[in-house]
Amino acid sequence: MDLHLHDAAATDALGALLARTQPAEAIVFLEGDLGAGKSTLARAWLRALGVDGAIRSPTYTLVEHYPLAAGGKALHLDLYRIAGARELEFLALDDAGASLWLVEWPERGAGGLPPPDLAVALAVDGAGRSARLLGVSAVGIAWVRRMTETGVCDALLTSEGRKSSQTTDP
Ligand SMILES: Nc1ncnc2c1ncn2[C@@H]1O[C@H](COP(=O)(O)OP(=O)(O)OP(=O)(O)O)[C@@H](O)[C@H]1O
Ligand SMILES: [Mg+2]
Repeated sequence: MDLHLHDAAATDALGALLARTQPAEAIVFLEGDLGAGKSTLARAWLRALGVDGAIRSPTYTLVEHYPLAAGGKALHLDLYRIAGARELEFLALDDAGASLWLVEWPERGAGGLPPPDLAVALAVDGAGRSARLLGVSAVGIAWVRRMTETGVCDALLTSEGRKSSQTTDP
């Protein structure tokens, strides 16, 4: 699904929609260059899940842990500064028992991360951003299909995305 995020508020809106529609457990890769809007999306997502207080970008800490209002826990990772996937071992991420992983710069942790359910690829597009949502696991594919079918993202669909979502409709 291809979306156009006209401004930062639209990125926030997408974060809230993803929070509202996400499955009980989800691993999400947030891809895109410096400044593409990954942290903006993650912050809005965590806010929508009821996280209050500061949501820092985990640029130096690599990972931040957030207990969730509904129970469980979210991890927000930023692997831009990681030296190699082996560094992930020291973070004991698998033992954290998180129900949601939001991973910025996942390619830098390749080999040390669980496979994603959903990949969100963000890119600068004029004054705004483009966002491509790609379901990877069966759960992720069903998630994107659900978002398409319920029309929750219609206001953010690009004309291209609109066309492709219509052609996949029965
Ligand atoms: N849809 C949008 N349109 C215009 N500006 C946006 C949009 N979404 C986010 N921004 C702005 O882009 C800037 C960079 O965003 P952000 O820090 O989220 O990027 P990032 O992908 O996390 O970068 P980094 O890789 O450096 O962590 C912020 O000023 C944010 O407000
Ligand atoms: Mg960031």
